[in-house]
Amino acid sequence: MATFQSPRGTRDILPEDQPSWTHVKRVAEEVAMQMGFSPITVPTYEELSLFQRAIGEGTDIQDKELFIVRGRQSNSDEERYALRPEGTAGIVRAFIQHGMQTRTQPVKLFSTIQNFRYDRPQKGRYREHTQFDLEYFGDVSPFADAWIIYTSWRILERLELHTVQLDVNSLGTEEERIHYCKKLSLYLEANAEALSEDSRRRIHTNPLRVLDSKDRNDQGVREHAPTLADSLSESSATHFKEVLSYLTTWNIPFTINPFLVRGLDYYSHTAFEWTVNSDSGQQSSLGGGGRYDGLMKKLDGPHVGAVGVALGLDRVVELLATQNVPVPKSKKPDLYLIAADEKGTVFCTEIIPKIWQYCPKLHLECDLGKVNVGNQLKRAVKIESHYVLVIGTQEQESGNFTLKNLRDSTTEHYSSLESLLEFLKNEG
Ligand code: HAM
Repeated sequence: MATFQSPRGTRDILPEDQPSWTHVKRVAEEVAMQMGFSPITVPTYEELSLFQRAIGEGTDIQDKELFIVRGRQSNSDEERYALRPEGTAGIVRAFIQHGMQTRTQPVKLFSTIQNFRYDRPQKGRYREHTQFDLEYFGDVSPFADAWIIYTSWRILERLELHTVQLDVNSLGTEEERIHYCKKLSLYLEANAEALSEDSRRRIHTNPLRVLDSKDRNDQGVREHAPTLADSLSESSATHFKEVLSYLTTWNIPFTINPFLVRGLDYYSHTAFEWTVNSDSGQQSSLGGGGRYDGLMKKLDGPHVGAVGVALGLDRVVELLATQNVPVPKSKKPDLYLIAADEKGTVFCTEIIPKIWQYCPKLHLECDLGKVNVGNQLKRAVKIESHYVLVIGTQEQESGNFTLKNLRDSTTEHYSSLESLLEFLKNEG
């Protein structure tokens, strides 16, 4: 066994697994851009206090899972930074810092990000994971909620993941939620004996989380709990109805799940999650998001409406494999250049820049450090190069070249390098 292993809960994604990742990221970015989102890159770590304010006390992410970063040169023991556990807080921080509320609204952003959560690792749950994150700022209307859902739906559709399900709920405004939480806490207190230890701990810190507990006893208690829907004002109920109406028009199937509350505290109104049935023991949530109008203010920013979603790409990639969804393979070399002798090696070395000058898109492979022609040829076959060109003293002196097509075992002769390059130009 190698002395060093990747840290627990992290993985190496090897070259053979990269095509699925490239495919998923490309499709996600293409759809996002088609639907009006622009890319943004923000730092992998931020001030710890940013996450503390944004994510909320009583959430697992905030209480148990943050990776704290302390600089070696730091004079004090102060814990100043944390690796991001999610993308929204950092993107909102960037929105505020760069005064993006003064740009033409809405501002729609996307980012492919690495996140870090010190969670108990298992299949589909990693301590470093990748998300495709979409954020939609500057629109408080139900259209924006629906557009975010539609964008994530189109990404999953384009990836041919047709078995995903959408759960939606409305959490109402912050005031409505606070009022509801008081009612819920009272109810949970009265039923505390039947609750799991985790849920008992949350009765007053974060009672909403008891609603989406996976514990059987908790689920029994929640059946008779007061519902959020009953605490919504008329305008919140209308907002939710309108979101659902857009989804219906766009033929996006959904289920209203009154127990869906999400694991982050910043949501209000619409909350949703993409799930997949997990017979294979895979984590079921493929992605989720919702509206978070209060977060800007909480971070001392302007009052700007916001809604977003993040897809968990590790789980999306794993699902493509379990559902045998075909993924475009990585491109094979167009041309493998083989040197037959020393003069050939020098000549090949000299013409490589010329080849790319003529054929800028050509995938060219060569292994000129090796002298054995047989070995070079074997490698060309192994890596499935389309063409092979063997060059030695004879080719260099005569200016005649023979191009072998490894796919159909034919050969073509060219009486000058230029005529050969003219042909290859269209092959890259
Ligand atoms: P989240 O539900 O915490 O939301 O994460 C979104 C998705 O990331 C999950 O549904 C899951 O697929 C994936 N994910 C989360 N944790 C892990 C993990 N430990 N290992 C593998 N995959 C994981 C957010 O992060 C919000 N920021 C989404 C959002 C954007 N809301 C508004 N804008």
